[in-house]
Amino acid sequence: MAETKPIWTEGTVAGITHRTQNLFSLQIDADVAPFAAGQYTSLALDVDGERIAQPYSILSAPQNRPLEFFFYTQPDGQLSARLSQLKTGDRLWVQRKPEGSFTLQQVPAGKALWLLATGTGVAPFLSMLREGSLWQRFEQVHLVYAVRHWDDIAYNELIMATREHFGERFSFIPFVSREKREGCVHGHIPASISNGTLERVAGHPFSLDDSQFMLCGNPGMVQDALAALEQRGFTRSSEGRHGHITLEAYW
Ligand SMILES: Cc1cc2nc3c(=O)[nH]c(=O)nc-3n(C[C@H](O)[C@H](O)[C@H](O)COP(=O)(O)OP(=O)(O)OC[C@H]3O[C@@H](n4cnc5c(N)ncnc54)[C@H](O)[C@@H]3O)c2cc1C
Ligand SMILES: NC(=O)c1ccc[n+]([C@@H]2O[C@H](COP(=O)([O-])OP(=O)(O)OC[C@H]3O[C@@H](n4cnc5c(N)ncnc54)[C@H](OP(=O)(O)O)[C@@H]3O)[C@@H](O)[C@H]2O)c1
Repeated sequence: MAETKPIWTEGTVAGITHRTQNLFSLQIDADVAPFAAGQYTSLALDVDGERIAQPYSILSAPQNRPLEFFFYTQPDGQLSARLSQLKTGDRLWVQRKPEGSFTLQQVPAGKALWLLATGTGVAPFLSMLREGSLWQRFEQVHLVYAVRHWDDIAYNELIMATREHFGERFSFIPFVSREKREGCVHGHIPASISNGTLERVAGHPFSLDDSQFMLCGNPGMVQDALAALEQRGFTRSSEGRHGHITLEAYW
């Protein structure tokens, strides 16, 4: 089948926030089509006459502008390293029509929604928290955010504001793998599913009747967490089949 070419619109950098040596956020003014929280669009730069493009999850809520994105800088990467050098007012290309099915519309009804992310894979979940409709669909939301070092946890203010607003309905469970830190789980998401740590820390058991899981980020985490959940009897959702697990791997 022939690949459809993206239709590009020119965007302008409205702001850039460098969070750590290799994590940054961009605010971008661009005229994109309506999208759902969890979708991604492609960003591109023209380098030596060639358009270099990659997909990125939109972190801002669909109703808000400017658009916002959260990046890991791959030091020898074709695009992310260049995006990290942009300044306010610089131009870049934005795919006009966001796409992807990693959205709440694809998630069957349930009581508890478990959002499991590594690194920049938290972006679609922050868009969902900002958008807000998950609170009409789920009684309880658990955000599990796994990073190497505590300093890699971004958007703490948004997460804390959500906690303040929704109280016991929202739990935030940070995982830090390369240092020990009070209040964080030391380790990896898949093992914590298998050995019961995640349910214990959340104070909430998984349930085949009413738990839904969304997994995003590092493909190793996504595959291993999927396998750990399948071991517990949970199944993957797909078009036309209601399961418990919806996923997106970033590379
Ligand atoms: C749906 C989707 C949403 C995404 N959202 C985000 C986001 O919000 N934030 C973010 O930082 N990144 C996101 N990514 C990843 C992003 O698209 C790029 O892969 C990343 O920025 C690296 O691109 P680059 O051009 O800098 O590096 P590249 O030059 O493409 O690659 C450098 C290195 O990165 C690794 N790598 C990158 N892509 C792949 C791949 N497809 N397969 C195997 N290895 C790979 C390899 O080690 C490679 O050598 C997303 C990816 C997808 C598919
Ligand atoms: N973020 C992106 O969008 C992106 C895009 C392209 C490439 N990459 C690649 O990812 C690396 C850094 O990305 P990042 O900073 O976002 O961190 P990351 O490597 O995705 O790590 C984030 C967290 O996930 C953990 N993790 C790694 N593999 C796992 C697995 N199989 N199962 C469960 N947990 C796992 C890490 O633990 P450990 O401390 O044990 O590793 C860490 O706690 C770079 O080397 C780059 O090549 C990232």
